[in-house]
Amino acid sequence: MATDFTEETAADAVVDSFAKTPDPRLRELLSGLVRHLHAFVRETEPTIAEWERAIDFLTATGQKCDDERQEFILFSDVLGVSMLVETINNRKTGGATESTVLGPFHMIESPRRALGESIDFVGTGPPCVVAGRVLSADGTPLPGAELDVWQANDQGFYDVQQPEVQPRTNGRGLFTADDDGRFWFRTIVPSFYPIPTDGPVGELLLATGRHAFRPAHIHFIVTAPGHRELTTHIFVAGSEYIESDTVFAVKKSLVADFVLVDDPAAGEKWGVPVPFRHADFEIIMQPI
Ligand code: BEZ
Ligand code: FE
Repeated sequence: MATDFTEETAADAVVDSFAKTPDPRLRELLSGLVRHLHAFVRETEPTIAEWERAIDFLTATGQKCDDERQEFILFSDVLGVSMLVETINNRKTGGATESTVLGPFHMIESPRRALGESIDFVGTGPPCVVAGRVLSADGTPLPGAELDVWQANDQGFYDVQQPEVQPRTNGRGLFTADDDGRFWFRTIVPSFYPIPTDGPVGELLLATGRHAFRPAHIHFIVTAPGHRELTTHIFVAGSEYIESDTVFAVKKSLVADFVLVDDPAAGEKWGVPVPFRHADFEIIMQPI
């Protein structure tokens, strides 16, 4: 242990102080954190006032958290750290569908719905049919795969954000794929929307000239026996902010065309008025 504090020896002294940590992974994480944090401080040389400002920001971030609001996750989201952790932990092989962030709005249970049912109970947005197939990496269909789906409405709000306007569980559904691994449901095309900005993260976005928006998307959690659970989105091709998602969650492979269909026979087949949008994609699950 060092007896004389210097700028040059400080990081080693702190890392050495963790030498007896019984859990080797905890020792590795803390040592890495200290080395990077000290390097950051040596590089940027914050003033005392700047350091206090940073502490105030973290304090306010903690104070903004409650059972329903997690400002630290939002902070991690806008720094791109949530997506980095997500991507490192879900490296895909064999063409499996890529994952993306869970987000804070999967907070209530999705009601079980039959294939073809609508998840929209407001009826103000552009009608849409979402369909696809759940397959294993070798192309085998996965009958019985479960798809938990949630989305914002055409104004960019989730049901839980608008209890007076949207019935609870609007925009949500739990579907089971059929014998061919197929799924389909009716909905409306969701809108892009801002992440919550009434806290320290909103202040950070404002102070840095960044917008708060996420491009239009539909969330999915897909499960199938013998396969890794998949948390992902389908992004609406051409949506505003598709090139500048404030939480950096867009992966090219997850952008789907929501094709405009005006054929009355197609409308009749899916049970929607024409014209409507139709998205059709495969979800490839990675075997365990
Ligand atoms: C969402 O897509 O629901 C979301 C993701 C990250 C931060 C805020 C919202
Ligand atoms: Fe979302």
